Amino acid sequence: MARKGTSFITLSKIENILMFVIIWACILSIHYAYRKSGTDALNRIRSTINIIPKSVGKETINKDSDKKVILEESDFLQPDLEAKVQKELEEIKKEQEKELKKESIRKKEGEFYSTYKEDEVYKWFDERPKRTDPLKDPSVKSSNQPKYLIKGENICKGKTDILFYIHSKISNEKNRKAIRQTYAHPENFKKLTVRVVFILGKGANEAEKSKIIKESETYKDIVQTDFEDTQRNLSYKVLTFLQWVVDFCSSPIPRYIVKVDDDFFVNPFMLVEEFISEVWDKENFVSCHYKENSRVVRTKTSKWNIPETAYPLKDPDVFPKTCSGYTAIFPGDLVPVLRSISVDTPFIPVDDAYLFSVMFEKLDNPQYKQILEGMTLNKDMGLQDYSGTKRLQYMSVSAWGDITEIMNILWKGTMKHLTTLGKQLINEKRFTKQ
Ligand SMILES: *[C@@H]1O[C@H](CO)[C@@H](O)[C@H](O)[C@H]1NC(C)=O
Repeated sequence: MARKGTSFITLSKIENILMFVIIWACILSIHYAYRKSGTDALNRIRSTINIIPKSVGKETINKDSDKKVILEESDFLQPDLEAKVQKELEEIKKEQEKELKKESIRKKEGEFYSTYKEDEVYKWFDERPKRTDPLKDPSVKSSNQPKYLIKGENICKGKTDILFYIHSKISNEKNRKAIRQTYAHPENFKKLTVRVVFILGKGANEAEKSKIIKESETYKDIVQTDFEDTQRNLSYKVLTFLQWVVDFCSSPIPRYIVKVDDDFFVNPFMLVEEFISEVWDKENFVSCHYKENSRVVRTKTSKWNIPETAYPLKDPDVFPKTCSGYTAIFPGDLVPVLRSISVDTPFIPVDDAYLFSVMFEKLDNPQYKQILEGMTLNKDMGLQDYSGTKRLQYMSVSAWGDITEIMNILWKGTMKHLTTLGKQLINEKRFTKQ
């Protein structure tokens, strides 16, 4: 009995202990499994989206000592939460895919870019309104008209659709090279004829003189006259250009002139599709970054100083409208008119104001079209635009710095961003897939 009794007592003790252990094992295993699944779920969610559940507070999940926090996390992380988040993520992804699909359809259909057809583009060049202005005899010249050193009489042969007109100086050989190899290359377009003319002053020494003659013989895109190439003499380049077009580039007259500084990049396909498209039927226009009522500088020591003898004092003493000359588009048939105007227009030493304000104001109802949005003086913004994948914003970008490299990047970006129309306009020879 005693043995029985003893064994019964012992058994029930062991049973009790066993029961205790089993129950705890169950509790712990459930607890840890639950905790682990909670942690895993939280980590998975954290790796996909950045959420911090409110009930978790600021504590991190790895802090084992802080059981309260962990318990709260377990409480918060109901199994269905993960599913919910997952579902939401999937819906966002689906929504994004839908948008991308829509965008690619818009691009294909032309809604995203323009809907112009190739044939329409040629109309902008061939069907411009005809002018019949009374013009001065081209041999009657401004008293400031400089004399040719290099005539560039072979630059224009036959029609010219776009003439890039560039003020450059002899030492900027690198700039000219980069321009010729990229946006002003004569074979960029399948059908449009594009030319470039660099307007230069005289050489500072014998080395420069012979260098520029050689360059001109090689590329046939240089016009040089005999003024000293200084800041205060830039307006001589305007006079040179106007006279040169009339003398050597007027049969027929170029359809569009695009004046560009020699440290700027122009996207020629964007120029046609987005800018020429808007002005092709307009007469006296210039598309540029223009300013209204900019003050006339009258400080004698300033490099922009304008003497009262050349531009009389007015009230207010401003240029009503004038363009920044880094990129400006105007019709070629304005050049003979402007040349006639230049004969009687006193020389002012600021080239942009001389051409786009003083002479332009003498035209009949001149129209200034603001294209500030399409140009940037901020090279980095331009490079970002051209390295991205979105629709380009800037037709004209400053290339200050390592011009060869910057122009190359911008040209590659131009290829990468060709639109449906751009791909029809480009000469296959010049197209490089990016
Ligand atoms: C402009 O050029 C002329 C002719 O070469 C020269 O005599 C004059 O000094 C130059 N003016 C300036 C301000 O550089």
